Amino acid sequence: MSLALLVTGADGQLGAELLDAVRGGKDVFARGLNRKNLDVTDAFAVQDMVAGWERIVRSDNPDHRLVVVNCAAYTAVDAAEEDEETAFAVNAAGPALLATACARAGARLIQVSTDYVFPGNADRPYDVHDETGPQSAYGRTKLAGELAVREILPDASHVVRTAWLYGATGANFVKTMVRLEGERETVSVVDDQRGSPTWARDVAAGLLALAGSDVAPGVLHATNGGETTWHGFTQAIFEELGADPARVLTTTSDAFPRPAPRPAYSVLSPRAWDEAGLPPLQDWRSALAEAFGTEAHAFR
Ligand SMILES: NC(=O)c1ccc[n+]([C@@H]2O[C@H](COP(=O)([O-])OP(=O)(O)OC[C@H]3O[C@@H](n4cnc5c(N)ncnc54)[C@H](OP(=O)(O)O)[C@@H]3O)[C@@H](O)[C@H]2O)c1
Repeated sequence: MSLALLVTGADGQLGAELLDAVRGGKDVFARGLNRKNLDVTDAFAVQDMVAGWERIVRSDNPDHRLVVVNCAAYTAVDAAEEDEETAFAVNAAGPALLATACARAGARLIQVSTDYVFPGNADRPYDVHDETGPQSAYGRTKLAGELAVREILPDASHVVRTAWLYGATGANFVKTMVRLEGERETVSVVDDQRGSPTWARDVAAGLLALAGSDVAPGVLHATNGGETTWHGFTQAIFEELGADPARVLTTTSDAFPRPAPRPAYSVLSPRAWDEAGLPPLQDWRSALAEAFGTEAHAFR
């Protein structure tokens, strides 16, 4: 199966990894669009871009499968509390526009989403059909995006929720902790929020596999396996740096009040992903070691 991918949010953590993954792939042709190339909130531009891309691909390669992967998002979780309107435009209206354009072009759509659609108070991993209940503006807008995509394009869309992402591109928790390890004797990190740290490269490989598959449309979860706290994650980062993990002290979320509430528990079950026969994502700890091993320039 030859694939033509259109990747939005191409300069973000996940978009950049996906385009990297495609570079090595056989029979996959990808076009990456950063915000300057395509603002997903611009209805005319979205329709024009997807239709033009479809025409060009089809004229040369009528048999290619067309898949739009929406990695564009308003990801500033705290800022979204004060500016839900803009977050909604990017995270909900944008995906709806993309879904409409895909429907017209006969393309599939993979919409990337988040653990923040859940209330975050579970005591076992969230499954894809568990009740949602976002506690933040960001989560509400991402859930609205999921629902719009599934409603507009029920037979040709996947929603892929991920969590706790880090990658070589852009700012993220791993890079912050690497910097703090160099600047401070100790760092205090919350140990009352549990999740699955997830390497963007592993999610990108999973999205590529999904795009080329015949997995039934619907919602899937894709994170690295296992779970830990931000404190445990930071200790592992210190270990990768050859630093003493005892320098990472524990604190609680109460000590770090933030505009947007953070989920206490946001582990996502891989059940649907595994049952669909998609390649499982490795455990979070081995992913972190591999990320430091292969992308040392980005993290150290
Ligand atoms: N990061 C995480 O921990 C995490 C966790 C769970 C789920 N997710 C989801 O994973 C996906 C990818 O996240 P990420 O970490 O790669 O985010 P990211 O690094 O913030 O990348 C998002 C990209 O979207 C672009 N963008 C923002 N508004 C846009 C617009 N109106 N039109 C076009 N592009 C726009 C941003 O461009 P600018 O830089 O110019 O703003 C940025 O390059 C998102 O759906 C996110 O919700 C992320």
